[in-house]
Amino acid sequence: MLVLGGHAYRFEGHAIVSGDDRIADASGATPPSLRIEADWVRFQAALDQSAVTVLGRLGHEANPNRAGRNRLVLSSAARGVERRGDAWWWNPAEASLDQALSASAPEGGLVAIPGGMRVFDLFLAVGYDAFHLTRVADVSVPDGTPLFSTVGRAHGADEVLAAHGLRPAARERLAPGAWLTIWRTDTATA
Ligand SMILES: NC(=O)c1ccc[n+]([C@@H]2O[C@H](COP(=O)([O-])OP(=O)(O)OC[C@H]3O[C@@H](n4cnc5c(N)ncnc54)[C@H](OP(=O)(O)O)[C@@H]3O)[C@@H](O)[C@H]2O)c1
Repeated sequence: MLVLGGHAYRFEGHAIVSGDDRIADASGATPPSLRIEADWVRFQAALDQSAVTVLGRLGHEANPNRAGRNRLVLSSAARGVERRGDAWWWNPAEASLDQALSASAPEGGLVAIPGGMRVFDLFLAVGYDAFHLTRVADVSVPDGTPLFSTVGRAHGADEVLAAHGLRPAARERLAPGAWLTIWRTDTATA
């Protein structure tokens, strides 16, 4: 939670990962085995509730904004915070998160974070109020992109989330072998 100019922002991450906590394969694409219809429907509904969705340039380009949602796209090529025809664009090396949010979602509200990896990393440092993590246990993605850059042999995504103050608060089976866990801070409301 962040309050700017009297407006509150809540930060919620969303990801679907393989059993080895990968969001994309070695080519950088999300494998079909990580496309679970119930997860997709739930994810889209959550994005509809958001004031702004924050994603990396590759995810933005790979997923056209057909719903016309308010997007904030990270890129090292953006000049600070810029309004372009397709989205707000943000370069964190040139402008602060406060500046990016004040421009893209001036009234506050839910900030939905669909990633990818560096974007998920950045908001670990900011602090997630919640993280919606679906895991497809029997899928393995060798050499894929991890959910967080620190996910590897030593620890998985659950340990990273726990180390950043989140706890599993709800668990739901979305499909055979696919489980959603909603991680929340101890102070976060449902
Ligand atoms: N399974 C899932 O839940 C999930 C979630 C997210 C994404 N994906 C998939 O994963 C693939 C892409 O993920 P990805 O992690 O490789 O890429 P990504 O986050 O979508 O995009 C990476 C790009 O975003 C920009 N960026 C990210 N963080 C930045 C920062 N702190 N400062 C400046 N620029 C930053 C950079 O753009 P520039 O090169 O322009 O500087 C970087 O090359 C796509 O196929 C996507 O659909 C899956």
